[in-house]
Amino acid sequence: MKTSKRKTRRGLHAGCAMAGLVLGCNSSDATSSSQLSASPNGQLPSAGAAGATSTPGGAAGSNATAVGAANGEALPGSLAVQPSTQAGAAATDAGGMSSATPDAAANNDAGGVTPVPGILAATPPMGWNSWNTFGCNVSEQLIKSMADAMVARGMQAAGYQYVNIDDCWMNGRDGNGKLQWSANFPAGMPALANYIHSKGLKIGIYEVPANRTCASTYGGYTPGVGSLGHEADDARTFAEWGIDYLKYDLCQGQRSSFAVMRDALRATGRPILYSINPGNGQNDLCPPGSCALDLPNIANIWRIGFDIDTQWTSWLRLIDENANLYASAGPGHFNDPDMLEVGRGGTADEDRSHFSLWAIMAAPLLAGNDPRNMSAATQTILTNPEVIAVDQDALGIQGRVVATPAANLQVWSKPLSGTNTRAVVLFNRSAGAAAMTVQWAALGLPTGTAAVRDLWSHADLGSFTDSYTAPSVASHGVVMLKITSAAPAPAAP
Ligand code: GLA
Repeated sequence: MKTSKRKTRRGLHAGCAMAGLVLGCNSSDATSSSQLSASPNGQLPSAGAAGATSTPGGAAGSNATAVGAANGEALPGSLAVQPSTQAGAAATDAGGMSSATPDAAANNDAGGVTPVPGILAATPPMGWNSWNTFGCNVSEQLIKSMADAMVARGMQAAGYQYVNIDDCWMNGRDGNGKLQWSANFPAGMPALANYIHSKGLKIGIYEVPANRTCASTYGGYTPGVGSLGHEADDARTFAEWGIDYLKYDLCQGQRSSFAVMRDALRATGRPILYSINPGNGQNDLCPPGSCALDLPNIANIWRIGFDIDTQWTSWLRLIDENANLYASAGPGHFNDPDMLEVGRGGTADEDRSHFSLWAIMAAPLLAGNDPRNMSAATQTILTNPEVIAVDQDALGIQGRVVATPAANLQVWSKPLSGTNTRAVVLFNRSAGAAAMTVQWAALGLPTGTAAVRDLWSHADLGSFTDSYTAPSVASHGVVMLKITSAAPAPAAP
């Protein structure tokens, strides 16, 4: 419809991401817009990558990874298990979090719940994605260097696994209708997948349930063809190339194609994590609750809002949009408030807040920076093992606001594995530093003593009775804690 399209286009441009395709406004490291148009034709030189020689879009013979569970994982979570069961379990885990109103009862202990091992996205996916920093300037060389940097800079060791190529990798279809990679990938996708896999990492790719990709529709990337009507063929192609993750982005496409692609991925037999964006710009979002799609039954992760950018206000927008969607999250299926902007212009306090909030919301942790040249401060944030452990907790519960001591002060809580254990974020959104208190009662923890650990200073703060007060939480900052109630006294004989 004309009107909604116009609205959507405004939404997209407002976020700068699409404009970034052409102007580099969201791409501090983007080289030039000339790379936008990969040559749609021609034999490509074979260059370097894992010694592969192949034609664009071809199966690349010896380098094609076998279709099937090549990475030793079971089928995708939303594909192999009944996600509705998982969703139900997650809701139960979280103490019946059906109400949007925070209350102590909803934070009852999550102990006794059996996590779901062996499914895809059993915990939120972690990795890197090209879009935020590079827009359409993607190439084989870039992606290989990212994989190298993820290893060299400790990201892989911290749990980052997926190396995801966003829009602009494709170059139309060949005469048989098969997707072709662009000239920027001279050795071809199977060889690139082999390279990524040889590092112990996994590779992701991007498509849309439309005729043209988002960068084609809004950014002039004319070779960007979509998968609408080609779902089965394209899913087979991705599996054959050795792809481990598909981001399927609505962008004026057809929402009905999300389930078609899910089934097509399932039919390949290869575990391919399925990430969808069911929203069209800011004015036609499709989060759980208002989306006609049964999101947890379709995808492993789904975007809940419009594109993130480097501004603090966009991070707050996404936090607020995600805050009440906790009941939909659980092992195998998570809300996705979009990729990370850590290391892309925020202050150290803001970056720590961004990362802490994504972790307590059990959000996918998909770095969007350039890890090759990230500062030590950014590296420290992105690889903080104690914060990552909160995001990756096996229960897969999305944390929620349990107290709002003042207009811009929020106490967030996430039940963790183990008895009476919570992750807590004291989040100061205000313009000045503030003391903030967390009460055990707000967390659903028993009264009495509990051990408090600071997850950013990596220090045990001691044992506290009924509450803990952080004397000064920085403006736009957080204090992130792990709180564990003292073991109940043994019953009297
Ligand atoms: C949309 C998505 C972004 C990115 C671009 C690529 O805007 O929301 O995350 O994938 O498309 O064109």
